[in-house]
Amino acid sequence: MGKYEIHYGDSLEILSKVETDRFNCCVTSPPYWGLRDYGHQGQLGMEPTPELYVDRLVSIFREVKRSLRPDGTLWLNLGDSYSGSGQTGGLDVKGLLAYAYGTRDPAKIQAPRRKTPKNLKPKNLVGIPWRVAFALQDDGWFLRSDIIWHKPNPMPESVTDRPTKAHEYVFLLSKSPRYYYDAAAIKTKCVSTSTRAMGIGPKALDGDRFGQSGNSRNKPRRPSLGRNKRSVWTVPTAPYHGAHFAVFPPSLIRPCILAGSPRGGEVLDPFLGSGTTARVSIDEGRRCFGVELNDEYRPLIEERLSQSVLWSCEGVAR
Ligand SMILES: C[S@@+](CC[C@H](N)C(=O)[O-])C[C@H]1O[C@@H](n2cnc3c(N)ncnc32)[C@H](O)[C@@H]1O
Repeated sequence: MGKYEIHYGDSLEILSKVETDRFNCCVTSPPYWGLRDYGHQGQLGMEPTPELYVDRLVSIFREVKRSLRPDGTLWLNLGDSYSGSGQTGGLDVKGLLAYAYGTRDPAKIQAPRRKTPKNLKPKNLVGIPWRVAFALQDDGWFLRSDIIWHKPNPMPESVTDRPTKAHEYVFLLSKSPRYYYDAAAIKTKCVSTSTRAMGIGPKALDGDRFGQSGNSRNKPRRPSLGRNKRSVWTVPTAPYHGAHFAVFPPSLIRPCILAGSPRGGEVLDPFLGSGTTARVSIDEGRRCFGVELNDEYRPLIEERLSQSVLWSCEGVAR
């Protein structure tokens, strides 16, 4: 079996053909609602309302849930946006849906624009990540944790009536109430074990996993010093000089892959983009199944996978 399998096409369509109970975990970042036009018919994120966006994501993640092993987890990165942020009007609903769902008639397609959702006045935070999280919970997922991705280098904003946005979410969801979660693999480092001096237990800083190497075999781990990973992760956004513009930093997803799958396991990313999940999975001795709608990212993905260090990178790209 190859170290990766990459499919180019619509994730719902491709996932519906994947066998049940296959993947250890899914680590992914779908296009955010109304934020970016990836210039491809059928792309997610261009739905005219948050409700349609959420419905579409729920359908895709229903297939993800089916394809996860019973002890599988989903690590879902999502960011928020504001209603009516400079863009209103645009296509009628029929036109927008045709665009979002990929009509084959290009004459009917125009670039969509984000509308102010009906029940929200402009300037409102839409709350997309939590809308999605609750909808997934309603659809049978166990919502286990919200993780705050704190960005020490956020995008500058010219706002003076609210704080500058410096975080996104990573939701941890599981298929079953009990699931695979290797807490030891992502413990954070102790900086002081002087419990007497501090009057508390061992102290640690957020940072790299402690006491486990990237090559460690998947075997029961001895209890180690270090503390359980916290729910706020400080990770700078990483510049990436390829042609893709919404790449998540490898250090944001490495803990998800290490805690969510054993060495030799298989990680799914239904919105592969530039291939970050595949690259980190292979670097950490896992296999990856990725789906990306835009075939133009193929050279980008292949270049990143060819640079992977730990495993030889033979795989299948369809
Ligand atoms: C936020 S980006 C993912 C970036 C990725 N995490 C990385 O680090 O490069 C979302 C990706 O989803 C893809 N996409 C959009 N709609 C899709 C669909 N229906 N099926 C599969 N991929 C889709 C977009 O082309 C885009 O590359």
